[in-house]
Amino acid sequence: MNGAALVTGAGRGLGAAIARTLAARGWPVAVNDLPGRADDVVADIVAAGGKATVAPGDVTDEAEVTRLVTAVTERLGPVGCLVANATGPQPVVGFEDLTWHTHLGQLEFFVKSPTLLAQAVVPGMKALGGGRIINIGSDMPERALPGWSAYSAAKAAQLALTRVWARELGASGITVNVVAPGWIPVERHADVTQEDAPST
Ligand SMILES: NC(=O)c1ccc[n+]([C@@H]2O[C@H](COP(=O)([O-])OP(=O)(O)OC[C@H]3O[C@@H](n4cnc5c(N)ncnc54)[C@H](O)[C@@H]3O)[C@@H](O)[C@H]2O)c1
Repeated sequence: MNGAALVTGAGRGLGAAIARTLAARGWPVAVNDLPGRADDVVADIVAAGGKATVAPGDVTDEAEVTRLVTAVTERLGPVGCLVANATGPQPVVGFEDLTWHTHLGQLEFFVKSPTLLAQAVVPGMKALGGGRIINIGSDMPERALPGWSAYSAAKAAQLALTRVWARELGASGITVNVVAPGWIPVERHADVTQEDAPST
């Protein structure tokens, strides 16, 4: 196994910490984010003696995912570890204001993007003899917090597809898991007070 690690949405927040940790453990890491947002993390990893490359692109877009996985494979070899972490805005929308557009915004990141990414990297994982797919989920489906139905529903869908893929891909030596964090304040939470935190 082995190969390279690809971490999406890793220009800041949890993704940046995951990318740095994987690099410190010896993985060559492709650091994805929207263009211009991942350069600092790559520079930090390289300065610390690790191997990393920027893999810019919108991970909700079919053509972009194909392009960036091809570029990563050419630069670092096949992706042996995929961490599907990227998220867009997570609007808090109550029942009365909920629209299909709100749902779709969350499904793009937590169902569409993991699907595109997994389909793009699995052939390389099979060539390596195995791989690791880790979808970053959330504890929110278990918590039923008012205003969070679109996010929670998309994260629940992500968990369901992860479980099915684990059974479909296990025979090829590819494990598929969700890591479901609780609330971990990152850069985007700078203005969130403890009172407003989604922790109750
Ligand atoms: N931080 C928390 O409290 C928490 C809790 C539970 C789950 N999570 C999950 O962890 C993951 C990371 O969350 P975070 O808090 O670090 O978020 P974050 O907003 O800090 O980081 C997300 C990154 O994704 C990037 N991104 C946005 N759209 C993109 C796109 N189309 N293509 C590629 N990259 C894109 C952003 O530029 C950003 O750098 C998410 O899946 C989130 O749902 C976070």
